[in-house]
Amino acid sequence: MLLNIFKKKILSFQELFPDGFNDIHSHLLPDIDDGAKSLEDSIELIQLFRNIGIKNITTTPHILGEVWQNTPTIINDKLNLVRKELIKKNITDISLNAAAEYMLDDVFMELLKEKNLLTIKDDFILVEFSYINHPENVLDIIFEIQTQGYKPILAHPERYNYFHKNIDMYRKLKQIGCYFQLNLLSLANYYGNEAHKIAVSLLENNLIDFLGTDIHHKKHFSFLNKIGTKKNVKLLRPLLRNNEILKK
Ligand SMILES: [Fe+2]
Repeated sequence: MLLNIFKKKILSFQELFPDGFNDIHSHLLPDIDDGAKSLEDSIELIQLFRNIGIKNITTTPHILGEVWQNTPTIINDKLNLVRKELIKKNITDISLNAAAEYMLDDVFMELLKEKNLLTIKDDFILVEFSYINHPENVLDIIFEIQTQGYKPILAHPERYNYFHKNIDMYRKLKQIGCYFQLNLLSLANYYGNEAHKIAVSLLENNLIDFLGTDIHHKKHFSFLNKIGTKKNVKLLRPLLRNNEILKK
């Protein structure tokens, strides 16, 4: 009894998002990137999402140079495969859609010219930078994306180490209209202290627009249930419903 009094209360994912959560970043389609390895794996991950109250999912396979050469056809074929399996398994309360997580490389610039991009919703696209360095003319690239009619959402800005000592870049990107999507796992220290610290600072400075799980495998779920600390709840409260506008 005495122990319980001193035990810190951590809200479960479902308690943190009582109205549900529309996830816009994950890797759930089978065998097309570094996420789900098989159809079985996909279904297991989706069931784990369901267990924590996430029933709206737009999953985002990587499209990354020569490493992950996914196309809208490949992605949509895999999506249909998983949707059929969900029906077969009588899992009918999940809304599963697919877009992509685009690495801003030369391949992307070609796709942008062709205007052949998968959007999260309307004109919103999910983009990422390399973890080694950002594209040289990053502000011009963001501008070019906007000129082509898309709205870029930068995935996990807190994970780019080269920005940690160049905080001004975050402000510059925001000023030109780039949206930011924080990885919830960062708040559970999953990517280390530095990414955690930056995640908190971005939230404190109101620089985050959207949230995502970036789930790749089932081990990630145990971390999702660790984010509901008093401090994080306070930081996340203003953002809890932001992802609703991206619901398909
Ligand atoms: Fe991702």
